[in-house]
Amino acid sequence: MDIDALTHPTDPEIATHALAEAAAAAGYAPSIHNTQPWRWRLTAETLELRLVRDRILPVTDPEGRLAMLSCGVALHHARVALAAQGWHAAVTRMPAGGGPDLLARLHVEHRSPIDPASTTHLQNIALRHTDRRPVAGTRVQPAVLAAITTAVQEQGTHLHTLRPDQILELAAAADHAQRSEAADPAWRDELAYWTGGDRPAGAGVPDAAIPERATRTPVPGRDFGHHGELPVNAGHDKAATFVMLYGDTDEAAGWLCAGEALSAGWLTATAHGISVVPHSAPIEVIAARQAMRAMIASVGFPFLVLRLGTAGPADPGTAQTPRLPAEQLIDHG
Ligand SMILES: Cc1cc2nc3c(=O)[nH]c(=O)nc-3n(C[C@H](O)[C@H](O)[C@H](O)COP(=O)(O)O)c2cc1C
Repeated sequence: MDIDALTHPTDPEIATHALAEAAAAAGYAPSIHNTQPWRWRLTAETLELRLVRDRILPVTDPEGRLAMLSCGVALHHARVALAAQGWHAAVTRMPAGGGPDLLARLHVEHRSPIDPASTTHLQNIALRHTDRRPVAGTRVQPAVLAAITTAVQEQGTHLHTLRPDQILELAAAADHAQRSEAADPAWRDELAYWTGGDRPAGAGVPDAAIPERATRTPVPGRDFGHHGELPVNAGHDKAATFVMLYGDTDEAAGWLCAGEALSAGWLTATAHGISVVPHSAPIEVIAARQAMRAMIASVGFPFLVLRLGTAGPADPGTAQTPRLPAEQLIDHG
């Protein structure tokens, strides 16, 4: 066996192609209000991920926490795509000297055996979506919840499953957060921009992904300020499980890492037929975030709440949320 051929990128064109595929796969990543606040720079053996500050939500997300989480998901999607194509890539997060917006550099180092888990993840990257319909009546099985929790922990972030009394507290925090946000005209304008007709083509949340009426749920989902066109049944979310993604440090590097964990957990959930809906309002408002932090006895910093539940039947009418054209997300050279 020619070990050298296996361990060195003998064909740079193949490596460059794999990196291009990785950037393309990252385009499927979920992001706050579908803002897609990232840009890739592709060279022969390297992909660089940059934060796009123009697409941070200044009112909803002034610290950029949710934008960084979104970039972290994109980074993990790219890592999955490289692993699924049989490449080992060195990942440098927040490379020194790159400035605050250079979030990661991926450098293909050598061929590696294709990991079957990454192949499944890659397939699920294209299938995963935010399904805001009520979940079905079957609870998430403990073994599946354990698999999702492990996937998150393997990426250096934590997942706390809320107890029934904590779900009541979450409901109160989410309700408080949405009311205080909705009372701010600047916040309403920002939401209206990303959910209305003036949003950039391929970004924002379309009416097709917003429920046609309020759903029956213990924890209010995002109030998008208007009803959409997503058909919802009269089912109640009472079989839903709520979990909190939290990390050890409340700073950019921790948020990026948590985004990678969010991707790993969400792709694992998708593989098990579990629907995931992020709830970020309780994180966006400081009083609500503090209430969330108290739930984990202040051992870490809350980054995102997720509703997990058995996905309802696939609805062919449920369109995937569109994405920005690749030329707005990927630079060559
Ligand atoms: C960090 C983050 C926060 C989000 N917060 C919410 C939220 O509060 N409510 C909601 O309904 N969706 C939320 N989403 C889901 C996005 O709106 C969704 O990912 C985006 O519109 C793209 O759609 P897709 O996930 O179906 O591809 C969030 C996503 C991310 C990554």
